[in-house]
Amino acid sequence: MSTSPSRVAVFGAGYVGLVTGACFADLGHSVVVRDVIPDRVAALQRGEVPIYEPGLEELIARNAERLTFTLDVPEAIDGAEFVYIAVGTPPTYSGDADLSAVWTVIDELPALERHCVVVMKSTVPVGTGLRVRHRLDERGLTHVGYASNPEFTAEGTAVKDFLHPDRIVVGAFRDEDGDSVAALHAGIEGPVVRCDVASAEMIKLAANAALMTRISFINEIANVCEATGADVVRVAEGIGLDRRIGPSFLRAGLGYGGSCFPKDSLALKQLAANSGYHFQLLNAVIEVNELQKRRVVGKLSNHLGSLRHKRIALLGLAFKPDTDDMREAPSLVLAGRLLAEGAAVVAWDPIVDGGDLHGVEIAASPEAAAVGADAIVIVTEWPELADVDWAAVGETMRTRVLIDGRNMLDPEPLRAAGYTVEGIGRAAHDGAG
Ligand code: UDX
Ligand code: UDX
Repeated sequence: MSTSPSRVAVFGAGYVGLVTGACFADLGHSVVVRDVIPDRVAALQRGEVPIYEPGLEELIARNAERLTFTLDVPEAIDGAEFVYIAVGTPPTYSGDADLSAVWTVIDELPALERHCVVVMKSTVPVGTGLRVRHRLDERGLTHVGYASNPEFTAEGTAVKDFLHPDRIVVGAFRDEDGDSVAALHAGIEGPVVRCDVASAEMIKLAANAALMTRISFINEIANVCEATGADVVRVAEGIGLDRRIGPSFLRAGLGYGGSCFPKDSLALKQLAANSGYHFQLLNAVIEVNELQKRRVVGKLSNHLGSLRHKRIALLGLAFKPDTDDMREAPSLVLAGRLLAEGAAVVAWDPIVDGGDLHGVEIAASPEAAAVGADAIVIVTEWPELADVDWAAVGETMRTRVLIDGRNMLDPEPLRAAGYTVEGIGRAAHDGAG
């Protein structure tokens, strides 16, 4: 791979675009990130990072001389050899991905005389690359290359995932475009999978579908464990040691959320349906996940009876730890269900301020959230929760019920402190106190 620095434009300064831009700058390339939101760009120009992603702020600061931010398309494109697209592709009502932001970027590209490669980082339906290729050709931009280079970065570990990937996937129509996109990653160790554009697009969707399938699988095993007296944590350990299965993505819990899985599962389901195929397994994966988010309500009712006027403390709001992202967070469904049951809901999260959660009281600490509560639910496995003095917290609660929605705490000391403890896929324990 060549190591000469390139000029890269990145469209979209969200979770994916910022990480992509900052990591390419860190590899020595000169990067301009363009976004349409003036406040976002102004903040970035002042050195403020508008999202929470570990390591990103330092990376942006360290590479400030090679990394700039703009609202202006010509400024971003000026001299760019690569134009990365990292704008959002949210679902529409039909479940199809909304590609309007992608088309806006393509249509905004000036009539470039020189060669450059448009690279799709956003997750798009299979076939999008071909449509973009046609649109570029219709505009006379046949000399502009196109490649698909999907992201596999998880929020919270995105910088590490980008710089130390399991693989880099590059799909291109022309070999030379694929070669140059692969070369842009020089300095990153990891296998490069070269393929056609449609396969690269499908790799992204299929990877997410495989991970979601594992989560819904272990959640269903957990539900059967509850009915039969087995412990899903031991079961996951026992099956995960089988090298053919492996240990990751076998944590039972309240279901998956986030900006990718829910959206991409709908997009893949819809893509299949549009092509006349009924993707049964994926439908089941999605449905299991929806039910899983609601299961805690039944567990609370088992312990508390009617939830009307009961005070429930939700610990953790973000869809997973180490992010401030609330997109499709299970906490949203859970809070909504509890409010609908007539419960009072109080929530704590170390990063999400929760101010826009209608009807939910926000507490400054886990301890404050628990005061006077009838039950605590651990919704997000923030590491801070491992250090809480649960015995002291229990003294302040009305009833000591704790539902560990992520199986993060050892139930024994909690039981000794008088809690009735229930996890996901493990036996419930009545308090010893
Ligand atoms: C990304 C991908 O784009 C999505 O396809 C993938 O599956 C998940 O991650 P993400 O970076 O998480 O999305 O989205 P978001 O944080 O919403 O950032 C998108 C950015 O693009 C926003 O800052 C938005 O202002 C910007 N944008 C949107 C543009 O610059 N131009 C537009 O036309 C629309
Ligand atoms: C995911 C993919 O991992 C990443 O490769 C892709 O690029 C974007 O989508 P992300 O959504 O940021 O990343 O987080 P991830 O760590 O995958 O977790 C997704 C959801 O699954 C979270 O809600 C998490 O709590 C849940 N999860 C994960 C489980 O419930 N059990 C597990 O064992 C793992």
